[in-house]
This record gives sequence, structure tokens and C-alpha cells, in this order.
Amino acid sequence: MNESDPVVLVLGATGKTGSRVVAELVSRGVAVRTATRSGADVSFDWSDRGTYAPALKAVDRVYLIAPVMRLDFAEDVSAFLDEAEAARVEHVTFVSAYGMENAPQEVATRGVELDLMGRRGLGHTILRPAWFMQNFSETFCRPVDGAIVVPTGSGAEAFVDAEDVAAVAATTLADPAAHTGAAYDLTGPEALTVTEAAAIISEATGRTIVHHEMDREAWVAGAIADGIPPEYGAVLRQLTETIASGNGARPNDAVKQITGRPPRTFRDFARKNTAAWKDTSK
Ligand SMILES: NC(=O)c1ccc[n+]([C@@H]2O[C@H](COP(=O)([O-])OP(=O)(O)OC[C@H]3O[C@@H](n4cnc5c(N)ncnc54)[C@H](OP(=O)(O)O)[C@@H]3O)[C@@H](O)[C@H]2O)c1
Repeated sequence: MNESDPVVLVLGATGKTGSRVVAELVSRGVAVRTATRSGADVSFDWSDRGTYAPALKAVDRVYLIAPVMRLDFAEDVSAFLDEAEAARVEHVTFVSAYGMENAPQEVATRGVELDLMGRRGLGHTILRPAWFMQNFSETFCRPVDGAIVVPTGSGAEAFVDAEDVAAVAATTLADPAAHTGAAYDLTGPEALTVTEAAAIISEATGRTIVHHEMDREAWVAGAIADGIPPEYGAVLRQLTETIASGNGARPNDAVKQITGRPPRTFRDFARKNTAAWKDTSK
């Protein structure tokens, strides 16, 4: 790599998408700087604005995920984007969420989208993914004692693999000029109910995994009791209601259009991740 090669700052670089974006960029020979609160090239904390400018020094492009488990982050992200413009960053690829174009500007994620769209000195691409398949292997949809407990009813969602989200992000960061100003809805190839997803995990693991529906308010209260910030309960309520009401993500071909390869199916994802479901007693 030459000194003149672009450097990509990857925020959230130890997370579900960020870690995969790093791997994708490195495999393409792109220079990467990782930034999180710990375990990265530079220490970066959304709650400490003094960490923004040092992380952005000599950076050309940014993979941006907003602060997680918070609702009040639009001003922090705006301050970060001011620093990015001052540092002459050329491009930001921002991970938003499916359907966010319909949210009011008071919703922080939509606020960040509008902020980016209004900046003349900074190119951007907005990614709006469906629910990640990895929610079933790494986070809140992981089966416990053979059951996936989530109030999504019989609604379906075109779950997308975080690997595909990362591949799209890396493509936009490796060649930003081809994606400047674009907003992409990212989905998997088929819309599945959680009952269908559980059946596919059962088939892959050889163990019975089922979907248990639960009263939404009791489920949100349980998540808060387990440690999510109480104000974030509203997000969980809205996310699950969207699917249950039949308004979940519908499949499209954006992943294939952008990366040249079809999005991974849930069946492939399940086969690849059986180790994640070896012990579902906790
Ligand atoms: N899950 C889904 O189904 C889904 C679907 C669509 C969109 N999204 C969006 O995807 C984003 C989350 O991406 P992800 O799943 O890749 O993230 P993730 O797995 O939750 O990882 C979060 C990353 O952010 C870092 N981080 C946490 N707190 C931080 C702080 N205060 N300052 C700096 N870094 C911090 C973490 O590292 P440290 O803890 O070491 O700092 C980690 O690297 C969210 O914006 C979400 O809305 C998710």
C-alpha cells in the first residue's frame, strides 16, 4: 500500500457488521483503521467528543454506525460529521435501517440520514438493511431452551446476512464515486416468519427449535429487566410490531446488483452457524 492510498475508518469495528467490513476491506487490499471503545487501532467513544478528531486524522472514508442502544445520538453524530468535513473526509457509508425513509426527522437515525444528505462537502451512501440473520445466532433472537421468544406473530421479514451487508458496505467504501448519494435497501432473498426460521435452524442443527410468541409489553419489560436501556424499549416495540403487522422487509436484488453475488439464504446461514446453537440452555 502507498501513503496516498485511501484509508477507511471503521466505527463499530468489533461488532456484527463492522468486524465483517474490516475483513472485506482487508481482503480487497484497502487500508483500514478500526475504532471502538476498546480493542481497536484507535480509542473512540461516542460519549467523548474529544475522541472524534484524533480518530479521523488522515482518514479518507468512514464506515459509520450510530451509537448503539441510544435514541439521542443525532447531535453527537452531527458533531462527528463536522469533524469529518474539517478533516477532508471524502465519503461516509452509513448503516441505517429498513424503512427509515418513512420515519420523522425526530427519529435520530433518520436525522443522521437527513444530515448527511444536506452536507455538500461530504459524499455519502446510506444502507437500510432488514433484520440481520445474526440476530438468531448472536443476539436477541437466539433460541433459549429450544425456543426463540419474540413477538413477531405470523409476519415475515427478508432477514439479511451481516456478511452481505458488510460486502455491500465494503464495495461502496472501495469505490465511493459509484455509490455517492445512493440509498440501498438490503435484504435476504426470501421473506420468512420466525416460525419458518426456527424450522430451518432445526433442520440445520438436528434439534427442535420453535418460535414462542409472547405478549409484546411483557417481552419489552423482560428485555429492560435483562439490561437494555428503558428508553430503547420503544425501539424493540416498534421493530417487532412492524413485522407482526405484515410490514416487514420484502426481498429485493440490491445485494446482487451491488456485489455481483446473490444474498445468502437463511438455510445457508443456518448451516454455516450451527456452532452458535450447540448450547441454547442460556
Ligand atoms: N441487528 C439488526 O437486525 C439491524 C438491522 C438493521 C440495522 N441495524 C443497525 O446496525 C447498527 C448496529 O450495527 P452492528 O450490529 O454491527 O453493531 P454491534 O454488533 O451492536 O456492535 C456495536 C459496535 O459499536 C461499538 N460501540 C458500542 N458502544 C460504543 C460507543 N459508546 N462508542 C464507540 N463505539 C461503540 C462496539 O465496540 P465497543 O463496545 O468495544 O466500543 C461494537 O464494535 C445499529 O445502528 C442498528 O440500528 C441493525
